[in-house]
Amino acid sequence: DEELAHHWFVGSIDQGTTSSRFLIFNGEGDPVASHQIEFENLYPKSGWHEHEPLELLASVEQCIEGAMAKFAELGYSKDNIRSIGITNQRETTVVWDSKTGDPLYNAIVWPDTRTKTLVRELKTRDKAETLKELCGLPLSTYPSSVKLVWLLENVDVVKQAYEEGRLAFGTVDSWLIYRLNGGAQAETPIHVTDSTNASRTMFMNLRTLQYDQELLDFFGIDQAKIQLPKIVPSSDPECFGKVASGALEGVSVAGCLGDQSSALVGQCGFNPGQAKNTYGTGCFLLYNVGTVPVISKYGLLATVAYDFGHGRKPVYALEGSIAVAGAGVKFLMNNLGFVDQSSKITELAESVEDNGGVVFVTAFSGLFAPYWIDDAKGTLFGITQHTSKGHIARATLEATCYQTKAILDAMEKDSNHKLESLAVDGGLSNSDLCMQTQADISGLPVDRPAMRETTALGAAIAAGLATGVWSELDELSKVNQNGRRVFTPNMDRKVADRLFKKWNQAVEMSRGWVKE
Ligand code: G3P
Repeated sequence: DEELAHHWFVGSIDQGTTSSRFLIFNGEGDPVASHQIEFENLYPKSGWHEHEPLELLASVEQCIEGAMAKFAELGYSKDNIRSIGITNQRETTVVWDSKTGDPLYNAIVWPDTRTKTLVRELKTRDKAETLKELCGLPLSTYPSSVKLVWLLENVDVVKQAYEEGRLAFGTVDSWLIYRLNGGAQAETPIHVTDSTNASRTMFMNLRTLQYDQELLDFFGIDQAKIQLPKIVPSSDPECFGKVASGALEGVSVAGCLGDQSSALVGQCGFNPGQAKNTYGTGCFLLYNVGTVPVISKYGLLATVAYDFGHGRKPVYALEGSIAVAGAGVKFLMNNLGFVDQSSKITELAESVEDNGGVVFVTAFSGLFAPYWIDDAKGTLFGITQHTSKGHIARATLEATCYQTKAILDAMEKDSNHKLESLAVDGGLSNSDLCMQTQADISGLPVDRPAMRETTALGAAIAAGLATGVWSELDELSKVNQNGRRVFTPNMDRKVADRLFKKWNQAVEMSRGWVKE
């Protein structure tokens, strides 16, 4: 009918570490249809973590088909979709042949630590200390740069493509945008990334938002031999092209944000001083610092929060990245068989009163912020005859909460500002126990929205802003505000401090005990 036909919607692809989703939002920011698919994570060797790029693409395409079928049942069609946005796991590195559009190797996923030795060698090079000032990131196994260098040094087909000038590099956003536009077959192949994703490569200068020669030289990347994606703003009606085939054929892609940036946008964290923590596979706390980047002195990252272009200044964030959050729960489920569904971990953790003295440093990929200990290994402390699965489940949830507390302390020192409350989202935020624990350990109110698909919402906002669904950020003030629940701290500060001290002791003991 008339009214329905003029109702505008925005789509959002959310390509994460363990699953892909496609959601369709209405102009109020409420999801009306969605589809989600889990895909395979490959761990071919200890410390290695890969995805098949074609499987990532296929999972996204299937999600689009699935959600569009549900949208059709509501009486709508793709003509009601104004544009779509893309949000994605960051740093994960894809290389493909620009002649054929085919991947040349599996994607190396962000927590992969195969580059540990390479990173140690890079740290001894001249200027290693100055990189952070330019790009906001410390040298570690985490950014895309070291993953690309590893591919160039170790994979013959990648090396050969580089020598022959047909090597294309991208993070997952670039890969998806390229292929959704038709890949190498497109009339004009689209090879772009937005500045939030580019800020995770270590190749981009945080202030100019363009590739920096000094950074490329440090990693030995010759721009004449490799096709790097063009860096564009996160919200634009032209830069990202159009979907070439399938249920969204002809619909324009108008927004692109790394998933953690997207969650900040989806929480409407548009003001300096606002912060959000997303408990996904990993856990990432982003704190809006405004239009001037702050280079951390206390182990945090400086990153682009969002860059809506069109005369608006880019906004920066301080970030605390935790490699293992939901991944710890998956480990208890898949490797140890503690539960058969992630959501049951809370029940298991609630079967005991406290952690029974168990501390689990879930350092499966070393420890990220604020510690950056690349040789830390996952370590369980305090096991006795009394220890049960419940205690270990509890200690697994607590590990993310302690690391968040350490990040909050660092953030306070870097920004000279004490947070008043912490907005949360992501899979583990569904656990009331985990969120109450977070409030207790941090001493901060933890504020959880009813609609927790904030990551997908952020990319929809970026796309909607570019295509007239919304024209100003002020119009979004009511989005995602209903039904929020606040968890208030309910633990004696002395007890909380004692627990945190114990955690920090455990962190110290998890480092360097395996000589490699
Ligand atoms: O930096 C990695 C991050 O973007 C992955 O997010 O939600 O898949 O843990 P997630």
